[in-house]
This record gives sequence, structure tokens and C-alpha cells, in this order.
Amino acid sequence: PAVAPSPSAPASAAATLPSQDELKRVAAHRAVELVESDMVLGLGTGSTAAHALDRIGELLRCGALRNIVGIPTSEWAAARAAAAGIPLTDLNSHPVIDLSIDGADEVDPALNLVKGRGGSLLREKMVEGASRRFVVIVDESKLVPRLGASGLAVPVEVIPFGWALTLRRLQSLFDGVPGFNLKLRTATINAKASSFGKIESEFEPFVTDNKNYIVDLFFENGILGDLNLISDEILRITGVVEHGMFLGLATSVIVARKDGVVAMDK
Ligand code: 5RP
Repeated sequence: PAVAPSPSAPASAAATLPSQDELKRVAAHRAVELVESDMVLGLGTGSTAAHALDRIGELLRCGALRNIVGIPTSEWAAARAAAAGIPLTDLNSHPVIDLSIDGADEVDPALNLVKGRGGSLLREKMVEGASRRFVVIVDESKLVPRLGASGLAVPVEVIPFGWALTLRRLQSLFDGVPGFNLKLRTATINAKASSFGKIESEFEPFVTDNKNYIVDLFFENGILGDLNLISDEILRITGVVEHGMFLGLATSVIVARKDGVVAMDK
């Protein structure tokens, strides 16, 4: 059982360290300092971007920012931004964006990213690729020596038609790469307790905002080789819509670490 700390006990070192969510908030607020009135903004998706959306909303409400319009990178971002009071527009009306702020799943030393574990990579890449400045906000856990090295997924958005064939073609591309694996991303539906009290769930493919599926690629040793070449080869597979490697798109990365904030510029 957890023991409540005595109020008189000296605070432990751990209690004074910022939590991961606090670090995300610090990075997000630092990035929002770059927002100026009259800007067209790209609005990111995820738990770090949420802090940026909420902060922009606060600054609009108190009048410190005016005449901002935002282009959301997902249905989730659209809802969160609307709740924060940020006026929304779209890429067709504003094909050039002043500043996009978004989180990432991985950042390598050259500021290449993996994004899309939340499944929003396609709209994120369209919005952030159309931005004069794309500022990435992360806590220090997202820094990796090379993309894929965290052991988590590098997502690829595929059309549902013939997805198993597209998955096989992706498998063939990386045949022989030690530690490579891939699988269709699924979402849990209808989780319920069976008569024995065991939780039984059904799974169906995870569906993106664009009504596509996601195939997650896993590289035990990170992605070795020329990232641009690998990107081209993935995109050449018919049925692939986009992948989650964001190469050369970030103009700067704001990293919140336990000992302070560091900005890395391209
Ligand atoms: C969603 C994304 C997110 O930016 C990424 O997954 C980071 O999320 P979080 O800030 O919650 O860690 O790419 O598609």
C-alpha cells in the first residue's frame, strides 16, 4: 500500500523533479512565445501539442494575441483547438503557414523525426511541410541516436484496399534487416468481462482521420542506411499513402529536460 508522505518530512529529490507532462508543458509554452498576432498557425496533435493549444487559447482570451487562425493536423486537434477558442481554417484557404508547433515521437541529432504514433502523420506532414517554420516540442525522452532506435513504431499509412498485400511489400523491402518486424495497427473494441471475470476484447484495424489503416514498422537496431532512399522506397509501394519519417522538415526542436530547456536549430 502507498504511504502518504508526512507533511513535516523533507521533500525527496524525486518529488521536486518535474514530471514528463510538466516537461511537455514547459516545451510547449516556450514554443508559443514564438507566436505573434496575425499569424496562420499549424496546430499539432498529441499530449505535448495539447499544452500549446491550451496556451494559445489563454493568450487569445486575455488579448495578448489577436487575429490568429489555426489549421489543425487532426480531428482531435480541431476539437481541442475549438475548445480552447482558436479560430480554425484550412490548407486550401491558407496554403502557406507562418508557424507550426507539434510534438514528435523521436528526434535524431539531425532533427529528423518520427511522428504518427497518434495516427495523424499524413495531415501533420501536409500542414508542417507547408509551414515557413516548424517548431517541434518534446521532453528529453524523445531524443534518439537514430530514427527507430526507441524500439517503438515507425508508422506507415496505407489504403485499406489490399492492405495485406501492401504489408507484404513493406515486409519484402526490409527482408534480411536484423530485428525488423511490422504489423497492422489495431484498436480495441467491445472490451468486456467474460463469465470467468477475464477481460475479453475484440480488435479491428485502427482507422485514421483519412479513413486509412496504419502499418507499424519496428527496427530493433534503429533505421540503418540512407533515410531519404528508404523514404523513397516506401513511398514507391502502391497502396502506401505516407510514412511517419519527417526528414528535414523541422526548423527547430525545443527540448525540455529536467535541468532546463534546450533549443536545437537546423
Ligand atoms: C501524432 C503525433 C504526435 O505528435 C506524437 O505522437 C507525439 O505525441 P505526444 O506529444 O503525445 O508524445 O505525431 O500523430
